[in-house]
Amino acid sequence: MQRRPPTKEASFARKDLLGIQELSREEIVRILDDARGFRDVLKRAIKKVPTLRGRTVVNLFFEDSTRTRTSFDVAARRLSAEVINFDVSTSSVKKGEALLDTVETIEALGADYIVVRHGSSGSAEFLARHIKASVINAGDGTHEHPTQALLDALTIRRRIGDIGGLRIAICGDILHSRVARSNVACLNILGAQVRLIAPRTLTPPGAADWGAEVFTDMRKGLQGCDVVMMLRLQQERMDGAYLPSAREFFHFYGLDADKLRHAKPEALVMHPGPMNRGVEIESSIADHKTRSLITEQVEMGVAIRMAVLETLAKNAPEPGATKQ
Ligand code: CP
Repeated sequence: MQRRPPTKEASFARKDLLGIQELSREEIVRILDDARGFRDVLKRAIKKVPTLRGRTVVNLFFEDSTRTRTSFDVAARRLSAEVINFDVSTSSVKKGEALLDTVETIEALGADYIVVRHGSSGSAEFLARHIKASVINAGDGTHEHPTQALLDALTIRRRIGDIGGLRIAICGDILHSRVARSNVACLNILGAQVRLIAPRTLTPPGAADWGAEVFTDMRKGLQGCDVVMMLRLQQERMDGAYLPSAREFFHFYGLDADKLRHAKPEALVMHPGPMNRGVEIESSIADHKTRSLITEQVEMGVAIRMAVLETLAKNAPEPGATKQ
């Protein structure tokens, strides 16, 4: 029997977005292509489409966020959804309510999507198994931050074009970084040559099996790179002495003009934010007019999150159907 090629619609049949590692190349490319369309919507005078009219998106952030939370909020409103920004600090979480009880309560109030950030790896997947609403992982512990990797890929595609064959370095605190894990997976699937550059203490055991070359010397690792992605030093996840000092870290691993010279002459610089200037990156590089993509990354965040919400809507129950 002759098999029909899969349609675009059939290529993304998920209720949730939990991580990049579970996605196919086809699914990633579809989100990136859809996000390009939403970029055009965002440039219009009226930046709103009716795609999610009648649906409710709840932002549930147990860890701080500026970019991810705000851009999910903007993305959902641009798609005409109702948005609830759940305030964990004044909720019954403070009285010891369990995560699942909190989320089931939110679902019973009519949430169709729950965008969750939590300090425990695997928390988004745990919730997705127990509720009918779509769960979007906005960062779970040191595990994954899928929409960050997607917006990073969109930013690179927009500036350079095809990601296949590019040499891309991810530098700094790899050990604690969900951004690094999602980006290695995403960039590998899209055909890039990925390098990880970090001191031994901040290189996860088994990093050599991630499908990336591992370096401890920044200058060697940066050689021939098209893109340099810096990571935040996540002091809040460090329960021991990983580094002699922030100053020493900057000396060996902070991106400055001297180290950047080892990459390709026009190499582009990225950082997911929030940045520690003078620790991971020198201000003159972070603010470089032509080589820094940091502001563009934030801009792409809204389009990617619109594309993710729209894609999941195609597989979601009718609005409000998640209520028991
Ligand atoms: N990149 C990122 O996740 O930033 P926020 O912590 O501000 O959301």
